[in-house]
This record gives sequence, C-alpha cells and structure tokens, in this order.
Amino acid sequence: MDNQEQLAELVSKAIADFSAATLPAELEDAKAKYLGKDGSLTALLKGLGRLQPDERKTVGAQINRAKETVELALVTRREALRDAQLEAQLTAEALDVTLPGRGRMRGGLHPVSMSLERIEALFRSIGFEVADGPEIETDWHNFTALNTPDNHPARSMHDTFYLHDTDGKIQQDVLLRTHTSPVQIRAMLAHVERYKHLPALPELRILCPGRVYRVDSDATHSPMFHQAEGLWVGEHVSFADLKGVVTDFLHNFFESDDLKVRFRPSFFPFTEPSAEIDVAFMSGALEGRWLEIAGCGMMHPNVLRCGGFDPEKYTGFAFGMGPDRLTMLRYGVNDLRLFFESDLRFLKQFH
Ligand code: DAH
Repeated sequence: MDNQEQLAELVSKAIADFSAATLPAELEDAKAKYLGKDGSLTALLKGLGRLQPDERKTVGAQINRAKETVELALVTRREALRDAQLEAQLTAEALDVTLPGRGRMRGGLHPVSMSLERIEALFRSIGFEVADGPEIETDWHNFTALNTPDNHPARSMHDTFYLHDTDGKIQQDVLLRTHTSPVQIRAMLAHVERYKHLPALPELRILCPGRVYRVDSDATHSPMFHQAEGLWVGEHVSFADLKGVVTDFLHNFFESDDLKVRFRPSFFPFTEPSAEIDVAFMSGALEGRWLEIAGCGMMHPNVLRCGGFDPEKYTGFAFGMGPDRLTMLRYGVNDLRLFFESDLRFLKQFH
C-alpha cells in the first residue's frame, strides 16, 4: 500500500469513528486517536523529517490535505451532535402551546368576611369609624371597666379562656376577649386623650368587628366566633337613636323592608336600660319567627366613667351583634360550624 492509499484509509477510518461517536465525549476521544499528541496523523507529520526533501514536500502536502479532511469531518460531526442534543432537549421539554390553559385558581372572601365588610360599609355610610382592639385582653378591659361584678359567671374558667404564664400558672387577669365590648373602653379612652384640649368632646361613633372566644362548642356555638360592636357617645344620644340606627341597618343589611325589628327588655351589666334585638322575616323559610341577633342598651354611667366620659354630660348607646348569625340568616345556612371547617365545597357556594 503506498502512502496515498494508507492516508485515504486513515481518513475513512477517522470519518467512520467520528460518525460512530454519539456523545461529545466519544467524539473527542476519536479526535485524539488521529489529531491528538499521539494521534496517527500527528505521527505521520512528525515522520516527515526522516524523508528526502523532494519527497517531504509531496508527502507533506498529502498528509496536510488528509488532516484538513479529518478536521472538517470532526467539526461537522461536532455540530451534528450539538444539533441532535438540542433537538432532544427541545422534544423532552416541549410545551404544547395549543393546550387549553389550566386557569388560575382565584381565592374569594369567606362569607363571614363578606358580611363584616358589608356591616362596616353600612356603618361608615352613617359616620361611624371602624375601630380595632386586641384579642388578648386584660380582665379590666373585658369585665371590670364594663361594670361586670367580680363574681359574675362569665368570669369563670368554665366560660372564659385564661392565659397561662410560662410555668403553667393561670394568669387571672389576662384572657381571650369574650366579646368586642372592651373596644368600647379602649376607643373612649383614646378619644378623650385625643380631644382633651377641647371644651367639649366631639361625638364618638365607632364600629368594631372582630373575633371573640368562649368555652363553648355545638351546632350554634363555636369557641371562636365574631362580633361587631357599635358605640355612639355624645351629648344628646338617646334610645330612639339606637332604635333608628339598628333598624335602618337591618333593612339595609338584608336588603329588605319585609322584616320586623323588636327591642326586647333584657339585662347586661354595661347598659341600662338593656335590650335584645330580634328580627322576624315576613316571608321565606323562617317567616314570622323572632330571631335574636344582638344585645344593646344605653351605656351604664360606670362604663362611661371608665372610658373617661362624664356621665352627667354625655350619654351613649352600644350594641353587640353576631355577624356569624347575620350571615347564616342572609344565606340560609343552618349550622354555624360550617363557617369554620374550611370545606371548599361549602365556601365556593358564596362566589
Ligand atoms: N357583649 C355582649 C355579649 O357578648 C353583647 C352586647 C350587649 C354588647 C349589649 C353591647 C351591648 O355593646 O350594649 O353578649
């Protein structure tokens, strides 16, 4: 075999090796066999020194041409492998842009939150401000300042969640608020502080929605539930104002004039006189039944005093209603616990 044939065979072997390589690393190994430091073409080039000068020129040119062919084959194969790899990756990670979208899951407000927003908006529209207070309260704000006697049953551990200190001892004076009424005290004290430089205090009108806690659990009671407290204090606030505000609110909340509202005498330590507010719908499943939805009354002088108001000069009314109950009535839900079980099949029905 002469030189030419030998070279031609080497070139075709190299091309065959390159096309047999299916991974970039295999291709680089094949390259080393021919073009590397110890590769066969490199060896041939090194051997040129041993040839006669005239022979060296022709053989040198032949070897260089063979080397160029091999190099071209290498580059071509490299590109082919890179293309194939990209192709494989594109197929593997393919996105079918023609598939219908999965859509976005949209959250929604809880039905009780919707009621609270509605209650807030209705009271704002008649000049009430929305107030807030802590859910962990002191005994003084939750009971004492609201004229609740020391021996009142609501103060017992049977009804109220008290907090433990770090060594497990019950803290008699720190509790989870049992109603939103302590916000009355906080709002009055803050109001008096803010306007104490004035000769007379401006009217205070607040609505305080929030969570409250009691040791209680059945179809109509949950250990956590909601209340919305209302308060209006001023120089000439009367029971007639209370009736007007609450009656108007209930017609608006239920978007109906087809209901009756009654104020039934009752007792609360923090109001005198006190009443329960009942509604009766004139149509629908609950037609004609009186349903209790709030407690209310004229603020007791002791409560006004604890809030920093002079009961000789100011009067006020307060009410505390149950937004959970109002939501049940508005939507016809018959078990309070459904609101707090987080079952989406139930919650979705309100959107
Ligand atoms: N705090 C009372 C309760 O939880 C409700 C209540 C009654 C609030 C009369 C008031 C009120 O502001 O005047 O049962």
